[in-house]
Amino acid sequence: MPNKTTAIAHSNIALIKYWGNFDARLRMPLNDSLSMNLDALTTETTVEFDDALAQDEIVLGGEPADEKTSARVVEQLNRIRREAKTKSFARVHSKNNFPSATGLASSASAFAALTLAATRAAGLELSERQLSILARQGSGSAARSIPAGFVEWLAATNVTSTSDQSYARQLLPPDAWDLHDVIAIVSRDAKKVGSSEGHAVVNTSPFLGERISRLPIRYHRVRRELLNKNLKGMGAEIETEAIELHMLAMTSRPPIFYWSPATVRVMDAVRQWREEGLEAYYTLDAGPNVHVLVEGKHAAEVANRLRTFADVQEVIVSGAGGGAKLSEAHLF
Ligand code: DP6
Repeated sequence: MPNKTTAIAHSNIALIKYWGNFDARLRMPLNDSLSMNLDALTTETTVEFDDALAQDEIVLGGEPADEKTSARVVEQLNRIRREAKTKSFARVHSKNNFPSATGLASSASAFAALTLAATRAAGLELSERQLSILARQGSGSAARSIPAGFVEWLAATNVTSTSDQSYARQLLPPDAWDLHDVIAIVSRDAKKVGSSEGHAVVNTSPFLGERISRLPIRYHRVRRELLNKNLKGMGAEIETEAIELHMLAMTSRPPIFYWSPATVRVMDAVRQWREEGLEAYYTLDAGPNVHVLVEGKHAAEVANRLRTFADVQEVIVSGAGGGAKLSEAHLF
């Protein structure tokens, strides 16, 4: 078996969101989604299979992983062991380059890095598409952290669709567009309700059908303007999309509220800045932090403005990031 392997992957921010699965076990999503990898937010993971181990050993940021996280990582390792036809357990060490207490701890970069590192360590050489399909089963959004830059994840929702048709592919390389994500951290608390739980209850929102029927038009508009590198052309749709994700969460049973008062204050400010001529648009993940999308030339100005808010604890500025890749710098 080849020696230890390290991979690095970036987190991503969705412009069209993944919220809900039609096959939860395989993480086959209800709809196509679009995203940008975030250069500033990375996970690094080293994996080594070792016949001497009696079980998988999972260490995150220098600490043994909690039970729930370990179970999810072991499930992903099991998928990889099945493909590689091995029974060996693995040593997995992983760390994020962003403070884990920013509420940004994203499963996307984590499962993308794990999937690349563990498949290589197990002796598999998968294509980008195969890696994306496998990463998807660990965490849906991780499918999009495999290719570089601006990415679309095809849902494959026809009755005849199979798991190997739901993967992410590049739309534009990272250097094709100087789009920036200026992230206002308004809370460092770990979220009370994880995305997986949100996906599981979205069917209880009476508005899900309405969303799904409207989404193809929005998707095509945003995709077209992304290819045109026209932020203004897609900005309004992106904001509506973010609000709609949260509306679905808020109207699920039990309802999930991710916003804090500071979330709304930042959203209001972005709208105000735009009226004054600054081309900036917000989007949100499943949490209270606000992602402000701007052209690179406005990123520093927007970051400075966000830093003046009493309830913004930290601001992270990121351009578009690369895809999952191997590294020689092992963590152990
Ligand atoms: C709101 O990929 O974290 O960020 O598949 O259960 O791991 P799991 O969910 P996850 O969901 C991401 C939800 C989102 C929107 C998005 O990234 O598209």
